[in-house]
Amino acid sequence: MNPTARKILVTSALPYANGPIHLGHLVEYIQTDIWTRFQKLGGHQAFYVCAEDTHGTPIMLKARSEGISPEALIARTAVEHKADFDGFDIAFDNYYTTHSEENRHFSEFIYGELLRKGHIERRSITQAYDPIEDMFLPDRFIRGSCPRCEAPDQNGDNCEVCGATYSPTDLGNAVSVISGATPVARDSDHYFVRLSDFEKMLKDWTGSGRLQSEVRNKLNEWFDAGLQDWDISRDAPYFGFEIPDAPGKYFYVWLDAPIGYMASFKNFCVREAIDFDQFWSNDSEAELYHFVGKDILYFHTLFWPALLHGAGFRTPTAVFTHGFLTINGQKMSKSRGTFITARDYLTHLDPDYLRYYFAAKLNNRVEDLDFNIDDFVTRVNSDLVGKVVNIASRCAGFIHKRFGGRLSASLPDLDLFNHFVSQNASICAAYEGREFSRAIREIMALADMANQYVNDQQPWVVARDESRAAELQGICTQALNLFRVLMIWLAPVVPRLAQRSADFLQCPIGHGATLHQLTEPLTDHEIGIFTRLLDRVDLDKAQAILETPQNMTTQTDTPQAGHLTDEPIGDQISIDEFLKIDLRVAHVQHAESVEGADKLIKLTLDLGEETREVFAGIKNAYDPARLIGRQVIMVANLAPRKMRFGVSNGMVLAASGKDDLGGVFVLCPDEGAQPGMRVR
Ligand code: 2FM
Ligand code: ZN
Repeated sequence: MNPTARKILVTSALPYANGPIHLGHLVEYIQTDIWTRFQKLGGHQAFYVCAEDTHGTPIMLKARSEGISPEALIARTAVEHKADFDGFDIAFDNYYTTHSEENRHFSEFIYGELLRKGHIERRSITQAYDPIEDMFLPDRFIRGSCPRCEAPDQNGDNCEVCGATYSPTDLGNAVSVISGATPVARDSDHYFVRLSDFEKMLKDWTGSGRLQSEVRNKLNEWFDAGLQDWDISRDAPYFGFEIPDAPGKYFYVWLDAPIGYMASFKNFCVREAIDFDQFWSNDSEAELYHFVGKDILYFHTLFWPALLHGAGFRTPTAVFTHGFLTINGQKMSKSRGTFITARDYLTHLDPDYLRYYFAAKLNNRVEDLDFNIDDFVTRVNSDLVGKVVNIASRCAGFIHKRFGGRLSASLPDLDLFNHFVSQNASICAAYEGREFSRAIREIMALADMANQYVNDQQPWVVARDESRAAELQGICTQALNLFRVLMIWLAPVVPRLAQRSADFLQCPIGHGATLHQLTEPLTDHEIGIFTRLLDRVDLDKAQAILETPQNMTTQTDTPQAGHLTDEPIGDQISIDEFLKIDLRVAHVQHAESVEGADKLIKLTLDLGEETREVFAGIKNAYDPARLIGRQVIMVANLAPRKMRFGVSNGMVLAASGKDDLGGVFVLCPDEGAQPGMRVR
């Protein structure tokens, strides 16, 4: 190992073991993975660990609703998550679980140290209790009407209508989401960490350049508001670790989750014979970085350093915070038809495309990142395929056909090669500072330069003249060397493309390579056969990642209170199910054919208070002009559906025989109906 090598431990937030990995999660895993791969490429001893976040009430209840044990649920989810991470080449050095003996050990140890040093306080609090389920209710499992605006069916702690925040006991007509019962107030003893004991230490820690400026500002607000004691206990029934000497009390999931970083690393150290203490002791010289989303800052910048410090461990070197993913400018959501799981993506597309797209957009600020399908397709096709891979595909054939796959003994334009190498410091600084978009911009500017070189040298013209063979070999060798340098830099971002490029050039790139190799040109060397390194992204396949079952139905993430219904029989639906369909009278303001779609008509529908665009497959039966001015019946609460031509916001009802052979008949209300009227 190189004597200047740094020891670096890196983590991403642990995913909850009760739901799928989605594109929002992947922003962080891909960002962390690129950064860690870059550190490894620089020859540092860098490790990336993660784990399943397995404890807490939602996981306990989900397992119960499936009729399985929490252990079975978390084991199944771990397999699914691991397959998704592998699918995106997230190269964890260790992926573990918080439901482990290592984690129990560290959780008990840290708690024990805080208790011994007097930082833990026990006191009684009053909480909402479900008398049917015999359990205390976390805020998100209580719903009721908002104390401010009286909107019904609001969350236990905030109103989605007026934005008020409150305590669940303030809700009107509160119900337990689990049983439907009215919660009652009940007292119970809880354990609190006195965070204010750590105020000075936290102020020093946060003030010493470890955090982005936006994050530091947020922390200052929290300091100004005063640090609140932190409740680290939960009552049984709970899936987690029981607190020593406190029967029926469990560590709150957010206590043992970050400790899971340590536990995962410990598990790795034992297996790989690495010295754990070198990374975690109070005087450690190793670097410790946590990548997290902006929603879990409080846990990582206040609770976590306080726990570590209180128990005599080192604190994090830095916490790197990122924003959220939006899809076409809006929050990812099932009801908008924009919920994309890792699996949905992998079913249709190469992971390198997304890794590249995220890298091209990521910076080191706490900004949201937008995934826009058209932009994604354009970006990947024009940069990766059109610029980078193009360099190799323009020259590889000549080296094979004319020179038996052998590169020339020297480069004709060493200055150009050295110019590329001279950009290494700037590109590395961008990677190190998590300014991936800048790194990509600089790499692509060099890719343009390499293509310009090929344009200027015109190898296809030189190839026509047998006497210029040496020149041809030199030009192609030069271009392939420029391609190689670009791929060495891009390897942390697009590991699959890097591996295919390494196989083609028959030299290490990415895996097994270091950045130092970049300065030495590849000459007098036999390369492998050139096969297509990367296909263009197909727009239809990219669209298909949105056309998934969860995006075709309207769903919410929040568990809903159970209520009595008449049970439907066989294929029947209940009256409640029928009433969920919001049928409305709509007036056709405009109708037009859709270019490129034989069957579709685009309708602009007036619903009284709003207008909607709907694509209807009725072109075979209707001339668009015939529809304008008529009234139709539409399903107004159908989840929006993204189609190649735009988003369809509803559905128009029509009668038809089998296979439309008997024709299609749009349903129209009798005269007198007004746009917006409900149909029942
Ligand atoms: O917010 C979440 O998804 C949590 N599961 C993250 C835990 S990160 C860490 F502290 F363990
Ligand atoms: Zn409200």
